[in-house]
Amino acid sequence: MDVLLFKPKMHANARLSSCILISCMFPLCAVVGALTSGPVIRTATGNVRGQVTDIAREFLGIPFAKPPVGSMRWSKPQPPDPWSPGTLNATARQPACPQKYCYKFLPNASCPDISQTSEDCLYLNVWTPLDANVTSGYPVMAFLHGGAFKWGSASLPMYDGGKLAMDGHVIVVDIEYRIGLLGFLYTGDGPGGATGNYGILDQRLALQWIQTNIDAFGGDPFKVTLFGQSAGAQSVFIHVMSPPSNSLFRAAIVESAPFAVPYRTKDEARLLATKFRELLKCREGDFQCLLNKTVEEINDAQQDVTFKITGGKLDEYFEPIGPVVDGVDVPMQPMAAARLGKFRKLPLMLGTVTEEGRLFVYGAWKLNLKRTEYEAALAAIHPSHFEEVETEYPPSDVPDLRDELCEVVTDYLFTCATRNVSENILKGGNSSTFLYVFDHATNGTGGWGKDTFCEGHVCHAEELAYIFQNSWVKGTPDEGTLSQLMVLYWSNFAHSMNPSVGPRSPLLRWFPYSPGSKTIMHFKTPTPECITQFRKQQCDFWDTVGYEL
Ligand SMILES: *[C@@H]1O[C@H](CO)[C@@H](O)[C@H](O)[C@H]1NC(C)=O
Ligand SMILES: *[C@@H]1O[C@H](CO)[C@@H](O)[C@H](O)[C@H]1NC(C)=O
Ligand SMILES: *[C@@H]1O[C@H](CO)[C@@H](O)[C@H](O)[C@H]1NC(C)=O
Ligand SMILES: *[C@@H]1O[C@H](CO)[C@@H](O)[C@H](O)[C@H]1NC(C)=O
Ligand SMILES: *[C@@H]1O[C@H](CO)[C@@H](O)[C@H](O)[C@H]1NC(C)=O
Ligand SMILES: *[C@@H]1O[C@H](CO)[C@@H](O)[C@H](O)[C@H]1NC(C)=O
Ligand SMILES: *[C@@H]1O[C@H](CO)[C@@H](O)[C@H](O)[C@H]1NC(C)=O
Repeated sequence: MDVLLFKPKMHANARLSSCILISCMFPLCAVVGALTSGPVIRTATGNVRGQVTDIAREFLGIPFAKPPVGSMRWSKPQPPDPWSPGTLNATARQPACPQKYCYKFLPNASCPDISQTSEDCLYLNVWTPLDANVTSGYPVMAFLHGGAFKWGSASLPMYDGGKLAMDGHVIVVDIEYRIGLLGFLYTGDGPGGATGNYGILDQRLALQWIQTNIDAFGGDPFKVTLFGQSAGAQSVFIHVMSPPSNSLFRAAIVESAPFAVPYRTKDEARLLATKFRELLKCREGDFQCLLNKTVEEINDAQQDVTFKITGGKLDEYFEPIGPVVDGVDVPMQPMAAARLGKFRKLPLMLGTVTEEGRLFVYGAWKLNLKRTEYEAALAAIHPSHFEEVETEYPPSDVPDLRDELCEVVTDYLFTCATRNVSENILKGGNSSTFLYVFDHATNGTGGWGKDTFCEGHVCHAEELAYIFQNSWVKGTPDEGTLSQLMVLYWSNFAHSMNPSVGPRSPLLRWFPYSPGSKTIMHFKTPTPECITQFRKQQCDFWDTVGYEL
């Protein structure tokens, strides 16, 4: 775990002491300089002292909200109280938000140390290039992590933004947000209860923090690109749809969003809350009773409740907890928003990996998948057209149909839903939409740990190692080249809203998607290339049976 994909490049000035680096531009440097080195940045709520590594300046664990604890549990996040005149020690990551069972379902690299979690978790981490100063105006890449809205953390080593900041000449901000029912409980009894979507509001408050403070770190608040993967990608699209959010960034990258998974309706979310309350023995309307419960009690009840509500619907299995469509912060279902043009028109990059479904299918079925189970799964995936689905994806005679189910899940939830959303977006007439498919199985074990079924495959989240360059692969030369190209495209997109244009231009031009050409970037080894008509037959099929069930 945690093997570097590349040896970090040593920058000449990296060896200078950090205090010399910032050359005491800030008066406080003198104050802290003697005892502690490290750049000091003045934010709206007080000074923060970070540290300088070989590759970047990092500022870890900066609070962007008041701790959502005690009576502030299940309330909208509030800006933090100032801590000045003191200087915040921003050299260590803060705990992840409360979660349990992550290790059971996700590879270890995607899970924080759960003994270290805390309800007081609304912090962000900032990485800047070594030479950043108040006049640099670097573009900003704000990242939202995945984990099905109930797992994961912005502070995982795999999301460390130092290398991306250095190689991409950008500032990277990793944002923590409330997850699980602490982040998404919706009781449906008005302002006195829980109104849901707290995790989304946390993300938005962090984006506002960037608007206020990032120039002091050397960033340009007008050049913010929001990017995220999986549930983080779903969140990105919510901010694209949600008017209160979408002035806070100018471009967005959506990595492996399961667009065909709908968010909770109010009724579904209320039902979940009812079961949750019953398990915790709290009467309806007695919100204080819920506020009184320990995090441990909440996490256990949350886990039980997600099994209790399952009515065989795929999305309930796939993502039982998460955003609720409230008409304001989460205006509508994502595919409907795309279809109706109810989102902000801005440059977008969207993509998937070739075996998205594998982690979920093999995670759910530990044993061979028999034909009857395959058929039941198709019925859960698409109840109204499962016969057509079976005709399109006929089961073969093999004793284990998991691989075949993976294809269905990948196409339906991810690949084709993403194509459909992209084409709908383009109906609005904007050609600044770039599509990709990531199609490289990492050599070696790929750090999947117990999830050995992902080794040698292109599982959900595989591309992240190539963008952040921290985790789980000891790269082959081809993998190194692929990763450098992806870092270039991603950071160029932050610089210019076009992946092919930036401080350095890649030799291979990435053309925008259009419904006519259907050109997408195919990330593979040894040589990536633009292709057309990816999964055309399958996606044409899914477009005919539909995604909004
Ligand atoms: C800042 O935090 C780091 C990590 O927790 C710690 O090692 C260091 O001693 C702290 N520095 C100060 C001045 O408190
Ligand atoms: C600030 O940083 C930029 C690069 O981002 C550099 O060109 C400029 O010289 C720096 N200014 C100072 C005062 O260090
Ligand atoms: C909350 O807990 C305190 C003790 O921790 C108890 O006195 C109080 O009655 C509880 N309130 C509710 C509404 O359960
Ligand atoms: C498409 O995006 C570009 C780049 O941001 C923007 O300038 C243009 O106005 C957009 N076009 C439409 C039709 O929204
Ligand atoms: C994953 O983490 C869990 C909990 O810390 C630990 O028990 C297990 O050994 C780890 N597995 C691997 C493969 O690292
Ligand atoms: C893949 O990794 C193995 C060791 O695990 C190594 O022997 C092999 O050369 C690698 N493949 C490539 C293409 O570098
Ligand atoms: C997207 O899917 C819907 C069915 O849900 C279909 O009607 C539509 O033609 C598809 N494609 C586009 C570009 O709308």
